[in-house]
Order: sequence, then C-alpha cells, then structure tokens
Amino acid sequence: MDLQVKDSALIKYEPAGKFEETRFEKIHNISFQNATDASIIVAQEIADLIRSKEAAGEKCVLGLATGSSPINVYAELVRMHQEEGLSFKNVITFNLDEYWPMDKSDVQSYHYFMHEHLFNHVDIPAEQVNIPDGTIAQEEIKSFCIAYEDKIKAAGGLDFQLLGIGRTGHIGFNEPGSHFNSGTRMITLDYLTRADASGAFRGLSNVPKKAITMGINTVLSAKRIVLLGWGQNKAEILKETIEGEISSHVPATYLQEHENTTFVLDDAAASELTRVKTPWLVGTCDWTKELTAKAVFWLCQKVNKTILSLTDKDYNDNGMSDLLALQGSAYNLNIEMFNKLQHTITGWPGGKPGADDTNRPERAEPAKKRVIIFSPHPDDDVISMGGTFDRLVEQGHEVHIAYQTSGNIAVSDHEALKFAEVAAQIGNGDREKFAAIAEQIKNKQRNEIDPVEVRQLKGIIRRCESLGATRFEGVPDEQVHFLDLPFYETGGIKKNPMSQDDVDIVNDLIATVKPHQIYAAGDLADPHGTHKVCLNIIFESLEQLKSESYMNDCWVWLYRGAWHEFEMHEIEMAVPMSPDQVLKKRQAIFYHQSQKDGVMFQGEDLREFWVRAEDRNKETAGKYRALGLAEYAAMEAFMRYHF
Ligand code: F6R
Repeated sequence: MDLQVKDSALIKYEPAGKFEETRFEKIHNISFQNATDASIIVAQEIADLIRSKEAAGEKCVLGLATGSSPINVYAELVRMHQEEGLSFKNVITFNLDEYWPMDKSDVQSYHYFMHEHLFNHVDIPAEQVNIPDGTIAQEEIKSFCIAYEDKIKAAGGLDFQLLGIGRTGHIGFNEPGSHFNSGTRMITLDYLTRADASGAFRGLSNVPKKAITMGINTVLSAKRIVLLGWGQNKAEILKETIEGEISSHVPATYLQEHENTTFVLDDAAASELTRVKTPWLVGTCDWTKELTAKAVFWLCQKVNKTILSLTDKDYNDNGMSDLLALQGSAYNLNIEMFNKLQHTITGWPGGKPGADDTNRPERAEPAKKRVIIFSPHPDDDVISMGGTFDRLVEQGHEVHIAYQTSGNIAVSDHEALKFAEVAAQIGNGDREKFAAIAEQIKNKQRNEIDPVEVRQLKGIIRRCESLGATRFEGVPDEQVHFLDLPFYETGGIKKNPMSQDDVDIVNDLIATVKPHQIYAAGDLADPHGTHKVCLNIIFESLEQLKSESYMNDCWVWLYRGAWHEFEMHEIEMAVPMSPDQVLKKRQAIFYHQSQKDGVMFQGEDLREFWVRAEDRNKETAGKYRALGLAEYAAMEAFMRYHF
C-alpha cells in the first residue's frame, strides 16, 4: 500500500528516511518525543487549513474529538486565536460523540468539555457548533442521527477529522463489532471503555452505558484524518491498528483504507510498533549497548532460552546476523550480556560499604547516605519500592519520605464518614464540628466537589495511614514530609497544571536534606496522570538545583508505579526480596487501609495494590530466572535518571 499521504502540509511531519522502515505498517504515522510538541504541530495544520479556507472564502468543516488526547491541540488553537488572531468565524464543527443520556451542563458531558477547552475561548458562532445531543429522547435518536449525517453533508463534508483512539480500538465511540459502513447512531459502550472513563465519573457505576457516535463511514468520509495517540497505555492497540489486519474487532483498522490519514504519536505510544520494539526485524540497526541488550533479552524470550544458551543460529535466524558479525561470536556476546544483567542485582540499594563498587549499581561511599523517596500519593513508596525502602532503613541510611500530594480525593465518602462519626462521638469541644462534617458527607450530591473540611479530613486519614507505615518501617516522624503540592488540591479529578509553587516546595526539601539518592516514580504510562505531573515537578526541580554543589553527589533512581514495569534492558538496579521481605512489604501496604478492599478509581484491574505489587515483583524475578540468573522470590526494579 502506498503510504504517501496527499496533503502537502504533512511535509512538516516527515523526518528524513521515514518510509524506509515501514515494512509492517499500513497507516502513515509519525512519533514525537513528547505529546505537547506533537499537539502544536497538529494545531498548526488545523490553523493552516482554517486560514486557507478563509482566504478562498469557504467554510472549514472540522470533525472534533474529546478526551485527554486533543486537549493540548485545543489549547494551542486557543493560544493562536488569542495571540495570533486566528479566527473561527468560518469554521463549522461536528463532534464525534456524546454520552447518552447526558445533560449538556454535566461536567462529564462532551458538550461541557468542548466549551471548556475550545468554544468558550474562540470566536466561533454558536450555531456553527454541532455536538450529538445526549438529552434526546430514545424514540427520537434515529431521526436525530440521520439529521446529523445530513447536516455534515450539507456543510460540504468534513475537511478534517481529529481522532483519539480507545484501548478497545474504538474511534469515536465505534466499539468492536462496528460496521465499516456505519453512520451516526446509538451504541453500547464496551466495559473497557467504561472502566477507562470511571476515574472521571468517580466510579464505574456512574459511567453511562450508551453513547451517540458518528459512524465509521462518517469518519472515513473526511478528506483528511489525524489520529492522536499518547502514552504507553495506547501502545498495544496502536500496534494492532497500524500493523494488524483490517477487522471489526479493532474498528480503528478501518483507517488503513483511508488514503489521507496520519497517526501522530508520542514515543511511548509508538513503543510497540515493530520498527521501534524490534528494529532488527525491519532494517539495519545502530547497535548501541542498550539496543543490544534489548535484542538479546528479546531473543531469549523468543527462542525460550537463557542468555548463555543462545547460539549463532539463534541470532542469525532472528534478524541479528549483523550484531553477531560485530561481536565476533554468540559466546562473547552472551557473556557480556549475562554480566551486564548480573551487575544490576544488588541487595545494597544504598551501596555496599567498603566493597569494590566498579560493577555495582550504586557507590559504596558515603557508607551512610541521605535518601529522599518521593511518593506521588501517600502509598506509592511502599507499593512500588517497599522492599528497597526497608533495606535502605535497615542498612543505616537516613531515609526521608516525601509524599507529594495529599491523596485526599482517593478516600471514599464512607471511609471519611466512619472517621467523622467516630470523632463526633468521642470528641469533646469538636463534637459538633465532626457531626457537621458527617452531615456534609451524607448530603453530598453526585459530582459535587468535597467541601474543604471534608477534604481536610480525607487528607488527614491518608497522613495517619502513611505514618503508620513509615513507623512500621522505622523512619522517625520528622523524616516524613507531607508536601501537599498545590497542583493537586482542586478537590476534583481534574488537577491544576504544575507551577513554580510546586517546584519551590520540592526545591526546599532537596536543599534541606541534600540527598545522595533520590527515588522518584518514573511513570510514563498515563501522560496526564498525577504521577507524571509529580515526576515533571521533580525533573524541573533538579534542573533548577543542578548547579548547587551538593547535587554533584546526588543520584536519581526511578521506580515504576502500580501499572507497568521497566523493560529488562532498561533496569539498572534490581533489588531482590526474600519471602519474608515480601510479607513485610505486604504488611506495610496494609497500613493504607483507605486504599484497601477496592479503591475509588479502580480502573479495569480489580486486584488490590498489594496483590499487584507482589505479582509484579514476582514477575520481575521470573524474568531474571528465565534469562538464566539466580531465582529470587521477588525483585524491585529501578532505572537511573541522569540530569
Ligand atoms: C472522544 C472519542 C473517543 C476518544 C478515545 C480516547 O470524542 O470519541 O474515541 O478519542 O476514547 O480517549 P482519550 O483521548 O481520553 O484517551
């Protein structure tokens, strides 16, 4: 299939040599280091289209999407309107979809979303905005949908369609099973789609079961289509969409038939594509140390052998003959890779005092290190690195724990009510205060943001649970820091962007402790989640402090949160745990009782955090064993960040 797209505006998406590496790819795509830069380029294409239509005296008909993916595109369009005079007077928009039933004023409605992110800030005439109506009576839906299609045609058809992709492979809300020829209609949402939306709706049961969506045929009729994909969560479905066969099981694969479509991705979203994940199967490679390790570990899995059992034939049969030629023989390469992996394992995460540290992940000196463990929520420390945390304390380091956010919105009302009612019954002067808080909780409406007092109570519950866990680990209270970063304190799911106020708080802590080690949650899975913002705040702080002399001695280690683990070739330190240490970690997690027995934002993974953590740590140990290294009960993994 010819992947050359029609639009000359696309030239700016094209890095040199792009088309040499598309052997498995059936949709034109391009990836960027980060989603923000990519969004600006997409916004630029839309703005160019609006301007060229305006110059020709024509209307510009845009198909628009909601969700997290297009937010930065809209932000850039708003900026261009405000600062560069981009006008939307000649623009007609048609949104892809809307939940049903859904009030327009509901904060979860796509109607609300579009006005908040775009329409309220630009000069588009209200009558040129079209969004499926979630308030329509069931018996009128059919005629409404036909009229929606007719209106698109009457406007001259969609000049440009912006899309996101759901993890089911939906575009719009065309869930698996949708027909190639489908038009605008009512659809039942998949469980996974509803689970993904459950955070925004504060629980799965609040997510509507149905939606009105433009059809596949409606989308494909657009003259130009750009699909945005950000973050590791989308990587699997994007690979299936771009490389798989066309199938109604993955409706986005229908886009393979469209001749003017581009997928704009960030590196994490592109990470499963064959040319990124296993480039040796596609073309010639620049065999860096990292790529070599990645390829060798992949080969072990593919042929089900340990590193030291790989033969020349294994390499030659799997696209790595050039690597073999460079290295001389499988024997040399195997030993080098085995040693590399072996050297990542240490029971001394703070360095082993007095030992030769040439091949150890951490420095031996200073023997007693000052350490800050940053934990985005008050429990990520023990969930993600409870075993390592324990060892650092046990091995005599000065360990500080910094809880970056209060985590208050993740405490359920019934949990807070329990504490308020207990306090109201035993308190003296404060009885009435707590009785009033209990009433506030009982009278809360769906979607209502918690009043300040309720938020404070929820925050205190999490603080007290955290102190339970840190005391259990043997950390003095004065080394536990509750940063309550302001970006988080909106009371709602949607947080504020990070600001210098957040960075200043982190700067102060680092400047006071002068740490030799910093541990931070290096989560890239959710590009808009709290973990990513917390990480960006730390990165910014490191940037601002890097000229301070004490920072020369500071090493930063990233751990991963409850979702994805690092890939084997990325791991630079792996801390093994004995069966007893696994149990101790479990007990530390149990202190976070408000997050046990089901959490507010459960998502589709129904396992409790301690189970997820244990499964993941056992899995990591299993991967080391499968590569031919020693067998441990569990392992926690870290990657070093160089600033
Ligand atoms: C939104 C829509 C959906 C989303 C998709 C991805 O109007 O039709 O197809 O684009 O669910 O959502 P995000 O961007 O939130 O990951």
